Amino acid sequence: MVLKLGGSVITVKEEPLRPDGAAIRRLAREIASSGIRELVVVHGGGSFGHPLAERYAIHEGFREPNQLRGLAETHLAMEELNKLVVRALLAEGLPAVPLPPFSCFITKRGTISRAFLAPLKAILALKGIPVLYGDVVMDEELGFTILSGDHIVAYLALALGASRVVLALDVDGVFNRDPRRYPDAMLIEALRPEDISAVEAGGALAIDVTGGMARKLQEMARVALAGVPVFFTSGRRPGNLLKALRGEKVRGTLLKAGQRA
Ligand code: IPE
Repeated sequence: MVLKLGGSVITVKEEPLRPDGAAIRRLAREIASSGIRELVVVHGGGSFGHPLAERYAIHEGFREPNQLRGLAETHLAMEELNKLVVRALLAEGLPAVPLPPFSCFITKRGTISRAFLAPLKAILALKGIPVLYGDVVMDEELGFTILSGDHIVAYLALALGASRVVLALDVDGVFNRDPRRYPDAMLIEALRPEDISAVEAGGALAIDVTGGMARKLQEMARVALAGVPVFFTSGRRPGNLLKALRGEKVRGTLLKAGQRA
């Protein structure tokens, strides 16, 4: 199983470099209680990754030498956050092992083009839990860019033949419109990957896919189309992740091929 912990769940979004220690500890506890041990954890950047990456325009690729400083600073900040997540998992007795994506992936215009998965597979073979994260990455055309945790999740779910993917977000799941702007937004409990392409092609289903969620859905549609179900739930509501990992019923969105919409 591949699990993503959203950056806005494990950090305080509005304050640069501020972790949400209580959320990190609680999520680590829920993972431990789930009993699931064949697991890859990927976490986002939240207020550790995005402000620095933006300040140095890392996602736009290499333009001038001063950006290399930003590349280093962004990676170091992500390592700090990764350290907190790994330490929390270790404190729960889980065999978590940090794995920096900067050193095992190369992208081409932002899409993973080469991956060195031998360390990850070796950790899994020893029943360890690799813990990766959205990171800076060297890019074949751009020089460097940002590799999102979501892209890593999708890539690994397919490359490893995962049984399922769980995403712990700061919202309950996928809504028909942006829940932060529209109080009447409705949670979509079941979604098919075909419906997402319809939305992108301007189809009938009115999913207000703004910014982050649009990209997330694109990434996860690939996974679901390959037969790996993806479950979106809130990592902010205590107990949700535990239930989702156990496969129990909990508020969220199931993205799966072939089901009834
Ligand atoms: C972003 O990773 C990492 C950096 C900006 C370095 P994600 O895109 O996966 O982070 P969240 O979950 O959206 O915060």
